[in-house]
Formats: sequence, C-alpha cells, structure tokens
Amino acid sequence: MCGIVGYIGKREAYPIILNGLKRLEYRGYDSAGIALYDGSGIQLCKTQGKVSDLEQKVSSHINTTGSLGIGHTRWATHGVPNDINSHPHYSNSGNLVIIHNGIIENYASIKKELLKRGYTFQSDTDTEVLVNLIEEVKKQEDVKLGKAVQIALNQVVGAYAIAVFDKNKPDEIVVAKLGSPLAIGIGEDEFFVASDATPFIEFTNNAIYLEDEEMAIIRLGREVRVRKLKNDKLVDPYIQELKLNLEQIEKGGYDHFMLKEIYEQPSVIKDTYRGRLLAKKGIVKLGGLEDHIQKFVNANRIIIVACGTSWHAGLVAEYIFEDWARVPVEVEYASEFRYRNPIITEKDVVIAISQSGETADTLAAIKLAKQKGAFVYGVCNVVGSTISRETHSGTYTHAGPEIGVASTKAFTTQITVLTMIALRLAKEKGTISQSNYMKHLHELELIPDHVGEALKSDEKIQAIAKVFKDAANFLYLGRGYNFPVALEGALKLKEISYIHAEGYPAAEMKHGPIALIDEQMPVVVIAVNSNHYEKVVSNIEEIKARKGKIIAVVTEGDTTVKELADYIMEVPKTVESLSPLVTTIPLQLLSYHIAVMLGKNVDQPRNLAKSVTVE
Ligand code: F6R
Repeated sequence: MCGIVGYIGKREAYPIILNGLKRLEYRGYDSAGIALYDGSGIQLCKTQGKVSDLEQKVSSHINTTGSLGIGHTRWATHGVPNDINSHPHYSNSGNLVIIHNGIIENYASIKKELLKRGYTFQSDTDTEVLVNLIEEVKKQEDVKLGKAVQIALNQVVGAYAIAVFDKNKPDEIVVAKLGSPLAIGIGEDEFFVASDATPFIEFTNNAIYLEDEEMAIIRLGREVRVRKLKNDKLVDPYIQELKLNLEQIEKGGYDHFMLKEIYEQPSVIKDTYRGRLLAKKGIVKLGGLEDHIQKFVNANRIIIVACGTSWHAGLVAEYIFEDWARVPVEVEYASEFRYRNPIITEKDVVIAISQSGETADTLAAIKLAKQKGAFVYGVCNVVGSTISRETHSGTYTHAGPEIGVASTKAFTTQITVLTMIALRLAKEKGTISQSNYMKHLHELELIPDHVGEALKSDEKIQAIAKVFKDAANFLYLGRGYNFPVALEGALKLKEISYIHAEGYPAAEMKHGPIALIDEQMPVVVIAVNSNHYEKVVSNIEEIKARKGKIIAVVTEGDTTVKELADYIMEVPKTVESLSPLVTTIPLQLLSYHIAVMLGKNVDQPRNLAKSVTVE
C-alpha cells in the first residue's frame, strides 16, 4: 500500500508531487508528506490526514520552490498514523530523505544494531530504520548513495518501493523495488517516479517499470541506469509507451470516482470483449490464451486464486467453467492458499485474478503455484503490473483505471474475460453444443446494453436507499450464479457505508442466518429468472413469514416476486450464466447511495487502500 511520487527536472516539483499524491491517494490516505530541495537544503512537511490536509499545512510551513522532491501518501503498517510516522523520513545526519511503500520485516534487528552505533529514531517506522541503514553503509563503506542503497537493500528482508535523495547531491534520486510497484517516467531533461503512471501521464508517455530486485539511479543529464540489486549487473531497461490519458483518471463530472466507474460499465465491458468476441462468426479469440489453450484442455483442474471482489469474480467463473467446459474448479482465497501447503500438480491450471495486479497474497500464491509446476494465467486490469508479469500468460480486462477503492467495473470486466475463456475452452473441448455456444456469444455481446438499461433504475434505487440507509444490518441472498453476487453486494455495502452486511446462498439461510430476521432486517434477494427461481420465491416467503423487509432484484416484467417484495430493482433479461453481469449493477448503486446519504467518503473508505501490497 502507500503511494510514492518523485520529481527531478526543470519544473517546480511541488505541484507535480502534490497532484501526483492526489492521484495515488487510492493507495492509502491516513497521512501524507513531502520533501523538496530548495537550492540549499531540504524543506519537509508531513501530517496525519489526507493530501488536502498536507496541502494546507505546506502553505504555512515550508518554502515550496525547487525542482527536486519526493512525496508520500500512507497506509499505516508500522506505527499509528500520526505526523511523526508519516513519510518522508530523514536519516540522523539530515542529509538523506526517503519515502517507502512496503514493509521491512527485519527492521527490529537492524534497528537494534543501529541503536548500538548511536543512531536515534523519532518514529516507530521501519522506513526510518532503512534510511539510517543506508546512511550507515554510506559512511562505513565510503560509497556513493546508489551503492549504499544497494548494499543496504541486500541486508533487508521484506517488500519495498523506495525513493531517496541526498541533499548534498541534488541532481539525483535513487529508487529500488521488491514486491511493491515503481514506475519511472522519462521526460525531456526531467524524470518522474511513482507507484503507478497516473502522476506523470500529462508530462510523458514513456515509462520504465522496474522489476523486482532492481534499482535505478536517476540523474539529470544522463540516461536512467538500472541495475540488479543482487549481482550489480546493468540492465537495459524496456521503455514502455503508455496508453493512459488524463480523462480516464479524472471524475468527468461525476461526484465520485465510484459512480463514474459504475456508469462506465457498458463501455468498458465492450472494451473488454472488443476484437476478442466476434459473435456472428462464432469466434472468441484471446491473445494470451491461443498459444496455451491445450494447457487448459488438458488440465485436471482449474484453481482460481484471488482476494476480495476478484475472489467473487472467481466464484462466478467456477459456475461457468464447470457448467460449460466440464472441468473441476476450486476457488481459493490467495491468502489461505499460499500458507496451506496446497496440492498442486503440473496438470493444474491456476488463474490469478487481480484488478491492481499488485495484491501481495495473490502474487505469493502465483509464485507458489509456479514453483509446483502449474501453468499460471493472469486476469489483471493494470497493464504492466507485477502479477501480469509474473504469470505465464494472461488477459487484460481493459477496464481503464479504477480509482474508487470499492471495485465495480473491475468485477464485471473480470467476469467478462473469464466468460470468454470458459466459452473458448468449452468450444475447444466440445463440451458445449454449437447452439448453446452461439447463444452465449450473442448474449454476451448484448450485456453492455443490458447494463445500460439496469443503470436507468438509478433514481428508483436512490429512493430505496433512503428508506434503508439507517439499517444496522443487511442480509444478501442469491443462488447459483447469483450467490457470488450476493457476497459482492454485501461487501460493497459494508466497505463504503460501514453497515454490517452478510451474503449467503439463499437456501443456506435456514441453517442459521434466518434467526437474524425480524422487521428491522432488510434482505436483498437476487430473484431473477433462473433454474432456481421457484426455490428463491420460497426463500422470500420464508423471510416474509418472519417479517423481514424484502428488496428484490428481479427480471423486467416479473410479477410473482413483485407481489411479495417490499421493493424491487428490475434488470433486463439475459441467460442465467451471464446474469451476474447485470444483477450486480443495482447492488453497486444501492451501496453507493446509502454511503453518500450517510456522508461517508465513498471513494476512500476508512482503513482501506486500493492495492493491498502487504499480506
Ligand atoms: C473490494 C475490493 C477488494 C479487492 C481486493 C483484491 O471492493 O476492491 O476486495 O477486490 O483487495 O484486489 P485486486 O483485485 O487488486 O487483487
């Protein structure tokens, strides 16, 4: 977690860094700080709170001139969020200043050693230990900053993306990474450093994404030198051309990124299948899949690893793959899988799903699966992310930057990709009839229109949100393909409104949760046309009999549930297997409106961060 930004060049560094931090605030937002070189020394300002709090503090505390600087927005790991624990951190001499995203696991033993050597510490952070280790190495070995960073990092266990500079050498920034992302923007006589490319997209389209265990010395007037931390080998860095544009990372007239991203779904789902799904011709073609389709065909089993919302997309995929491609699927929380000594063989295909492509647990699960010989396929959104590079092959979701912390368009585009993979595989294996295959291709092509239709109920959903915004608890129920949607609906509500919500398979309710139901309990039931429709209707009756309040997601034109439910949210008709792509829309809107009505910070809910790069 945490976002880091740096600049060295000819422009004023402060506005670039401040703007960059605002764009990276999705990565953490409990404190923020900045360090600028003003021509004679370091101007440092940091504070608990958001980047806007930093901006206010800076205006009365420091001189903001200077063309070299670094900034940080924090998601606390070591030490509570307060001014002192915020980054940047000075070394004891005051010469070095550092920002860090990650965790130094062996910081305690290093700190002990440094304390013996007379170092003192202001903060509780692992980062302050690291900058002093670099200082100590620099002094003891009598080496330049770059070398000192390299030697120090070889003594460190953990994860990091760091940027550090020395006030006595204000023409360079040294950066390094292991496990946390770090991009270097290459401009004309200027360089940018950031956790992702969004802070510098209006200045340059050229970026180097450092690989794990690489460092770079970024010096004015010279090409960026990238080295391997372990063996000191110089690396010829690949300069990637970025396709991002500024519009994609701005709110575009919406009140929140989350709402913008909910409304983008018709177009991004189309982007996801564009050029890959040719429904009329009966073709699904995914670049990353074609060369490896036999791995999938011959797989004994597919194991899906992911976290959070991406895990829910994996659960939907389990139904799809088993239904059409007749292959056993297991869906695993990456955080459990990685520590469970799981049985994985070379005949397994592992699919890792991750919006950010940086989730630490998912990454660790991938590494484990690769060690055990499995073929690992990635479904990621962020192009060039660590997971997209660590997997053997994969498919991007093409959802564009998702900035709201609560995942929305990532979920539906992940399901779109997984649906295409399953259809392609089923076709290859001959486990789906031609008519069924063609029908699903056609239905998938219609999904963006259906999502657009579902969005038209926004006002109605807003009115429902008003009725239930003060409820203390919610229950979400669904069956079959829509059980994962119930889980996702509950997660959306709890993460942005802080209302307790549980998702359950509707039939499972009788085995415990039904005890919770009384007249105070809103129960959101996904009751669209499906094989389980009658059963879900019975479940609704059971809730009604116990005076629960029913908010039902129904297929347009439904009459049975309409009569039973207290409130309905209609969605267009599609095939059951694709229904999660539309039933999830009203649930996203419901949680969004409840959170807004409760005055919560929808885009930056408390305690969360967009990419979870710590385990
Ligand atoms: C919830 C949410 C999280 C993420 C999870 C995995 O709205 O966004 O649950 O889905 O942290 O993140 P990725 O997909 O980036 O691996």
